[in-house]
Amino acid sequence: MDVYKTIISRRTIRKFKQKPIPEKLLNRILESARLGASAGNLQPCEFIVVNELKAKEALFPALKWAFSIAPRGNPEKDERPVTYIITIVNTKISPSWGLVDASIAMENMILTAWSEGVASCWLGAIDKENIRQIFHIPQNYNIEFVLALGYPKEKSVVEDYKGDVKYWKDTKGKYHIPKRALRDIVHFDIY
Ligand SMILES: Cc1cc2nc3c(=O)[nH]c(=O)nc-3n(C[C@H](O)[C@H](O)[C@H](O)COP(=O)(O)O)c2cc1C
Repeated sequence: MDVYKTIISRRTIRKFKQKPIPEKLLNRILESARLGASAGNLQPCEFIVVNELKAKEALFPALKWAFSIAPRGNPEKDERPVTYIITIVNTKISPSWGLVDASIAMENMILTAWSEGVASCWLGAIDKENIRQIFHIPQNYNIEFVLALGYPKEKSVVEDYKGDVKYWKDTKGKYHIPKRALRDIVHFDIY
């Protein structure tokens, strides 16, 4: 898929087929994070890949899925992500811009994955202290995000914004994601 097609067809997915991500693709996903832009080229981001079943089971309760439609977004046991990537930032390396660098790394990973058919959910509503304890993450690291990955087992489509940004799931389990129109968010030459 070309870059634009990858970007516009990407949607958040929270239910996954139980098919592992090939190691080669996982490496490409991580490479795309490593080579992302970084303020001052300080490169404070590090990544914990969670592939092992026990670790995945320990992480799952620390995550919140689709807050606006809870609990309908929760994946059942046989549709949980096959791999997680926890994005952490060494605050000794970058005290101020780490969150921006982490966000760039996240989007790079999401798009690299999706260009090869692997869907994802960016998770920010996470129990950071629990995650710190489970994975022995030192105090000088900020735990920014968790990326949930896997081949999609549900569908999601964009809808025109009609006064409410709240997304919904229909009776078939498909997500509908309202997005504001270009005319409402783009200003040419003057506000
Ligand atoms: C910074 C950030 C944090 C997010 N945190 C969560 C989360 O904790 N749980 C969740 O289910 N989705 C989370 N999402 C996914 C959003 O709900 C999703 O991007 C939004 O509904 C728009 O859908 P789309 O990604 O398909 O365009 C997060 C997205 C971003 C960018």
